[in-house]
Amino acid sequence: MRILFLNGPNLNLLGQRELGVYGLTTLKEIEAKVRERAGIHGVDIDFRQTNSEGELVSWIQQSKGKFDVIVLNAAAFTHTSIAIRDAISAVGIPTIEIHLTNIHAREEFRHISMIAPVCRGQISGFGSNSYLLALEAAVNLNVT
Ligand code: DQA
Repeated sequence: MRILFLNGPNLNLLGQRELGVYGLTTLKEIEAKVRERAGIHGVDIDFRQTNSEGELVSWIQQSKGKFDVIVLNAAAFTHTSIAIRDAISAVGIPTIEIHLTNIHAREEFRHISMIAPVCRGQISGFGSNSYLLALEAAVNLNVT
């Protein structure tokens, strides 16, 4: 099984960014935890971050035939990007939406996710554990 983890804008700043909201854990540390757990499951992962909406769209398009599941923290693009939503629909790869914070408990503009309707589900509010929970959910989709 191959899982593609995609991270959107400003997630490269985890560990320096709004520490009271996002905590001290860096994206590199999250990636290490995900890689360790993926190894236990015997799952191959790719883990990427970009600040560009277009690059996320391209990575989603290119994942067809290469990955079985996408785990996506689209960050702020979650709330705005019809292009990312359309890319998920176009490739038809089961996609799990994740967030470190509980977007429904934050500002009203974060309550709306453009991508949620085209995702298999959403994991939101468990800090870096959202990534590990998504890995478990992906493995249990039994798509291979
Ligand atoms: C986030 C939540 C988004 O609203 C925000 O724009 C982010 C991070 C999260 O992981 O909690 O950048 O996706």
